[in-house]
Amino acid sequence: MRQLVAGNWKMNGLGADLAELEALKPAMPGAACEVAVCPPATLLARAAWIAKGAVALGGQDCHAEAAGAFTGDVSAEMLKDAGAAYVIVGHSERRQYHGETDAQVAAKAQAAWRAGLHAIICIGESEAQRDSGQASEICHRQIEGSVPLEADGANTAIAYEPIWAIGTGKTATCDDIAAMHRHIRGCLVERLGPKSAGIRILYGGSVKPANAAEILALDDVGGALVGGASLKAQDFLAIIAAARKT
Ligand code: PGA
Repeated sequence: MRQLVAGNWKMNGLGADLAELEALKPAMPGAACEVAVCPPATLLARAAWIAKGAVALGGQDCHAEAAGAFTGDVSAEMLKDAGAAYVIVGHSERRQYHGETDAQVAAKAQAAWRAGLHAIICIGESEAQRDSGQASEICHRQIEGSVPLEADGANTAIAYEPIWAIGTGKTATCDDIAAMHRHIRGCLVERLGPKSAGIRILYGGSVKPANAAEILALDDVGGALVGGASLKAQDFLAIIAAARKT
């Protein structure tokens, strides 16, 4: 399985920042992993024009419906039309600041597939949940609720992002990451059966050039979802270069 390194620009980026996307292009033919950049929706069409297929693009969220009276929302079909191949759904910032539930996240994943997008479904526990020993149970519950039964390796990746490690500079230890990815793999097998074997499990949370190689070398880490360190091409390229070669 080729690893997937996806950059989540979050609510960052104006037109001038697309220079960072342009700067990724020369390295793409030699990349060992799949690469995707998820800029804000406002930049997607311009990003597609710059990427010219050399770098895959993604949205950061989508509405479950294809079209309609949903002021301010963006559908999966619109993302696809603007040039996206991926969409992140259920990011903890959406769950936290927009009150998204597991059921809504599952509907968004279905919308992604309907539009022909690869869904990156995010899960992960808060610091309080980890401290009280609930991390495994929370991720299990999120998989049961957010990952529709039609998920397989061709249409879905899971991103395990412990909330306390996002944007904080705190990374989970390699032992914690390996253990949680093992647990998540077990949950996927339980829910989806053998076809779940092809689903990549990405790690996210303060991945940076200094820790990418050790994280991406771990068993059953299928790639990384990178926030802050994806904003500068130099850092993002260093993470891409750390992907497993096989
Ligand atoms: P971070 O964000 O790399 O800045 O911690 C990761 C994410 O939220 O996807």
